[in-house]
Amino acid sequence: MRVLARRGGPDWFVTEFFRVHLNSKPDRYILRSIRENETGIPIFAQIIGSDPESMVSEAKVLLRERIAGIDLNLGCPSPTVCGKSAGGGLLRKPNEIDRMIGMLRDAIPTRFTVKTRVGYHDESEFPALLEVFRKHAIDGLTIHARTVADRYQTPVRPHCIGLARERLSCPVIANGNVVNAQAGENFHRLTGANGLMMGRGAIRNPWLFNQLRRRYDEQATLTPTARDLLEYIEDLYAELARESKDFQEKHHIQRMKKTMLYIVQGLGEEFEQQMRRMQTEEEFFALCRGHLNHNAPLPDVPPEQSKLFCGFQDLLDPSLP
Ligand SMILES: Cc1cc2nc3c(=O)[nH]c(=O)nc-3n(C[C@H](O)[C@H](O)[C@H](O)COP(=O)(O)O)c2cc1C
Repeated sequence: MRVLARRGGPDWFVTEFFRVHLNSKPDRYILRSIRENETGIPIFAQIIGSDPESMVSEAKVLLRERIAGIDLNLGCPSPTVCGKSAGGGLLRKPNEIDRMIGMLRDAIPTRFTVKTRVGYHDESEFPALLEVFRKHAIDGLTIHARTVADRYQTPVRPHCIGLARERLSCPVIANGNVVNAQAGENFHRLTGANGLMMGRGAIRNPWLFNQLRRRYDEQATLTPTARDLLEYIEDLYAELARESKDFQEKHHIQRMKKTMLYIVQGLGEEFEQQMRRMQTEEEFFALCRGHLNHNAPLPDVPPEQSKLFCGFQDLLDPSLP
């Protein structure tokens, strides 16, 4: 969050999800992202679980923290999570969602928002889900415009967000495949959404929030260079190290490599392959500096069919309505 905020950052953050089960307490590590949020950017606490009574108790504990509101996760497609009828798994059971959202709405006097997908198997399930969200007067709905079955790689379904805009009076936020400012603007125009949420695209390109702001303010495009990316990687390395309780170089490099998978997309196969083999800090930075210590502009979009980014072509056409 600190690293993103230094490069503009979003209007608000959402925590990783707090897993809620019988007698659970908020995870201490995730709590730190609220208590030590130095960015000045408000943060929502996201919860996930299947037992409404436990969800209410945990929400009440979280409400004592400095949060912008509580967000309910109805989108996680992990088979373990869905198997426990939590996250996206709950989308198969609108009656259970109805009960859970009703109880949470009664217990949360401040902002209560929901993050959903457009169905479990099929988007034909979506209108019934919207009816449940409408009934309980939630304060906002973020829609990752895929079904749970779609997981992460397919094109998104903008018309579902348009439908939510028609049916709900709360703000609707569009999410999925915003890989650059053009995709963000098109997604917004296609859906009439009140805002955008970005995940993977912002890890690859932390300037994305400001690039979008500038596009809307009709200011000149912000074009980050390879050296800007190098500084971002150095910043991320230092900040993640600051967070490690028991810093071990080898583990830290493995941790960085997970995030680097997003960052190196489109910077050449060789860089990506070499990154996989890095073991030490010295090797890691020598590789990054070797590839990035220059002022060439970064590619605006990731490659079309990488494992981590795909299905976004539909959102890139500059002539979309
Ligand atoms: C590794 C990973 C972890 C995620 N964790 C969460 C999470 O804790 N809560 C959540 O609402 N969404 C989570 N998501 C989903 C994203 O918020 C987002 O809905 C999805 O990636 C599509 O948006 P994007 O194309 O901008 O990434 C996660 C996604 C990935 C790839």
